This record gives sequence, C-alpha cells and structure tokens, in this order.
Amino acid sequence: MHDLTQATPAVPATVQALQQHLGVRAPECAVLLGSGWGSLADRVEDAITVPYAELPAFPHLAVGGHAGALKLGNLQHQGRRVRVAVLAGRKHAYETGEADGMKGVVHSLAAWGVKLLVQTNAAGSLEAAMPPGSLMLVEDHLNMVQRSPLFGVAGDDRFVDMSAVYDPALRAQALALAAQAGATLHRGVYAWVMGPQFETPAEIRMLKMLGAQAVGMSTVPETILARHAGLRVLALSMMTNMAAGLSDENLSHAHTMQTARAAADAAVDLLCALLVDLKL
Ligand code: HPA
Repeated sequence: MHDLTQATPAVPATVQALQQHLGVRAPECAVLLGSGWGSLADRVEDAITVPYAELPAFPHLAVGGHAGALKLGNLQHQGRRVRVAVLAGRKHAYETGEADGMKGVVHSLAAWGVKLLVQTNAAGSLEAAMPPGSLMLVEDHLNMVQRSPLFGVAGDDRFVDMSAVYDPALRAQALALAAQAGATLHRGVYAWVMGPQFETPAEIRMLKMLGAQAVGMSTVPETILARHAGLRVLALSMMTNMAAGLSDENLSHAHTMQTARAAADAAVDLLCALLVDLKL
C-alpha cells in the first residue's frame, strides 16, 4: 500500500481518532450515504457516532444543518448482521469547484483498514424503463467533469486503472442477492456532472448518446479516490426524477428529495440485504 499521508497529512491523526473512538479493528465495509439514503444511518444498531468535526482529515460540512457524522455499528437483515461504518455527509464538488473534498475521508478509511466502499446517491434517470423510485447498480461511469481528485497527488499509482472500478465480483453478487430478495435492481452507466444546476434537455440528449443511463453530481470522485487507495467499490443510484426534458415535471431539489423519501425504505431494505450477505 502506498503512503497516503503524503497526499493527506492529517490521515495519521484521523486514524488515531477513529481507533480511539471506534476500535483498532476497522469494519471491512464503509457505506457513504447520498441524498435520500440518510435513513440507513437510523438502522445501525449498537452504534457509536463520531462527528466529522472530531476527525481532522474529514471535511467541514455546513449544508442544511448536517455537519456530517460517522456511525459504526451493526446492520441487520433477516437475522444476519454486518459491522459497518456509515458515513452521513459528503462534500460535493459543486460546493467548491474542487473534486477532492472527500480525499481525507477515503484515505483515512483505507489507512484504518476498510476494504470496501459502498456508495449511494440520488440520480436523474435517462431511461423510461427506470422511473423515479428505481434503483440502479452502477456498472461504469462517465466523468463528464474531466476533473480528478488526484490532481496534485504524486507517484506512479496516480495513473489508476479505471477499466473495472465498480467491482465486477461484488456487482455479480449484488445482482444475485437482489434477485433472491425479489427486488428490481437495474444496471447502468452513471454520468458525473458538476452541478449544482440541473442539466438542460440538450445535455441530457448528449449524455444519452454517450451511453449514460443515469446522471448525478457525486460518487465519481470518491470512486477514483477509493480505487487509488486500494479499496473495492460498489455503487447504487436511486432515481429521484426523470432527467431534464424526459418528463413534464420541473426539476427542483425539493422535488427530488420528496421522491427520495418515498423510495427510501425499499432502497435501504435492499441495501441492508446486500450488505449482510456480500462476501469480500
Ligand atoms: N441531475 C443531476 N443530479 C441529480 C439529478 C438530476 O436530474 N437528480 C438527482 N441528482
């Protein structure tokens, strides 16, 4: 494993704080919660919570009164349990124009010993067959922003192989487990756009031509960081709206969040079902 402290000097102090609060042994899996997925944090049992503010390499978040917190504990599904770190709070690139807002988080998780980063997000759907409320397993992505969280990072391993970043073996397991659970899990390509404005209909037509099934403003930077740090990655998108021009609805954050709340229970159920049975 390469030296992540070169890229983020606050990593050793953060790992020390994580170990002090949560234990020397890291969970195998960390789950980064996107918009609409917050209720997963409420399902963590025997939880210990550490605010991001107590973790030096973690970002300072100030949006919507959520300061960010890491919750360590157990998730349960049908009698099976898994120990996970749930991260509520993400620094988005649209807040600053920089793609590396979560660098300290990912590097600290990797240095602590986490092996898998499961990402969740809210996205706009480009597929009529994937209406609002649908879930999509991310198979690949389009980095439309053409920025990297690895700008400024030294060393040859910054040239990360991106040919299979969303772990093929874990994706196959996720699809099989979803089928077993009787849940519909779509598959597709997630296009990362900078935001914070939504897309124009012309931009959505372009993304469709390029092969995207979903569009969103997160996830890709953390995927790049995680692969660079040697973590496996799995990502799930919740469709909160049809993308611009594909329905008569006007797009608004309030509307996407409303759809997300309605779809959250089923989404979080499925995620728990996957997490307890994934074999790393
Ligand atoms: N576009 C970009 N990001 C999003 C969307 C969208 O339509 N919906 C939720 N996040």
